[in-house]
Amino acid sequence: MSTDRVRAIFDDWAERGRAEGMEYGHAFAARMGFRALELAAGQRYLDVGCGNGYTVRWAAPLVAEAIGLDLSPAMVARARAASTDFEQVAFHEAAFPVHELEPASFHGVFSMEVLYYLPDVDAALRAIHDLLVPGGRFACVVDYYRENEASHSWPDDLGCPMTLLSMTGWRGAFQGADLEVLDQQCIQQPLLPGESPGWKHAQGSLLTLGRRRE
Ligand SMILES: C[S@@+](CC[C@H](N)C(=O)[O-])C[C@H]1O[C@@H](n2cnc3c(N)ncnc32)[C@H](O)[C@@H]1O
Repeated sequence: MSTDRVRAIFDDWAERGRAEGMEYGHAFAARMGFRALELAAGQRYLDVGCGNGYTVRWAAPLVAEAIGLDLSPAMVARARAASTDFEQVAFHEAAFPVHELEPASFHGVFSMEVLYYLPDVDAALRAIHDLLVPGGRFACVVDYYRENEASHSWPDDLGCPMTLLSMTGWRGAFQGADLEVLDQQCIQQPLLPGESPGWKHAQGSLLTLGRRRE
């Protein structure tokens, strides 16, 4: 079952310290998506597929409660261990869209490099819709998408099925879950001194920003 395979992959990555590598590699695009949520004091924040929980720690000083959810027990353990100095944070181990979170209670939901691993992206988007308060925002960032040809080998490379959507496909999936699309953009990283140019600088990460209708 692909959920078991995904859990095994990310348990292994967490145990080998790759969660922090993802944090470093994802941070530029993740920041853009995170900022687009426009979080404010008193609100609730959720990261679906939080990895080591870095965005939960970004959110903690800004909101009333920040929650990370991840399928991988080893990722959740790393997230908890890295967050002991933060108040009002919590981490849940769950295979989204299965969860025990309160419906219509989150003002901002974020997900970086996660949704295409799920067997049913449409069901996941509907579940995110239902977790948002009316007017709440969802920022979804993916690197595996149709226009990013460099990513197309990833299911074979990882031995794991993934859902490949185009930019139009992501917009349609949001709309199908009754999430109004506020913005969609490819986020290209600046080339740092000593770096070789690659897809992150050329095609970039795909951000789709949605909002639950009022
Ligand atoms: C590529 S990593 C990204 C982690 C983190 N968002 C980041 O930017 O570093 C994908 C994460 O999604 C989690 N994941 C995959 N499928 C999931 C599911 N159905 N429910 C919850 N988490 C899931 C994995 O365990 C892993 O931690």
